[in-house]
Amino acid sequence: MKLSLSIPWMDFSAAGKASAEVKKLLARLGIEQGLVKRIAIAMYEGEMNIAIHGGGGTADIELTPDLVDIYLRDHGPGIPDIGLAMTEGYSTASEEIRNMGFGAGMGLPNMKRNADELYIESVVNQGTTVHLVFHLNRKQE
Ligand SMILES: Nc1ncnc2c1ncn2[C@@H]1O[C@H](COP(=O)(O)OP(=O)(O)O)[C@@H](O)[C@H]1O
Ligand SMILES: [Mg+2]
Repeated sequence: MKLSLSIPWMDFSAAGKASAEVKKLLARLGIEQGLVKRIAIAMYEGEMNIAIHGGGGTADIELTPDLVDIYLRDHGPGIPDIGLAMTEGYSTASEEIRNMGFGAGMGLPNMKRNADELYIESVVNQGTTVHLVFHLNRKQE
């Protein structure tokens, strides 16, 4: 099953809708609650990063019997130093964004913690793709 959702730029009334929709869908499909929660948290952070830092973009969700793959893509400014961006507390968010309660610099670390696998590809001035992988049926491995 594949699902593609768009993530608008700087639209705080829409922000979080894509991850909320995926959360609902996965719960409806009977995926275990703890896993649904991890997916929703990681995807929410990625969605907010696209909305705030990435200039808007898309989320593509692919569901197979074994995996949930989520590709978060944007054509924004890119991340010049991924290692630095992964550091807890590191944020380039503006004062205005921080005053709205975002920009704590915990999004990427949170995504890393909640996903089974996290891959970031980013090219400055071209954009960023974050690939999140979640394993289903862990117990049978
Ligand atoms: N999609 C993106 N495009 C450009 N830069 C990004 C993107 N996602 C994250 N970043 C950069 O990585 C930093 C850290 O991200 P994150 O840990 O989510 O913290 P926060 O969003 O609170 O700033 C951001 O401040 C930004 O500089
Ligand atoms: Mg963030």
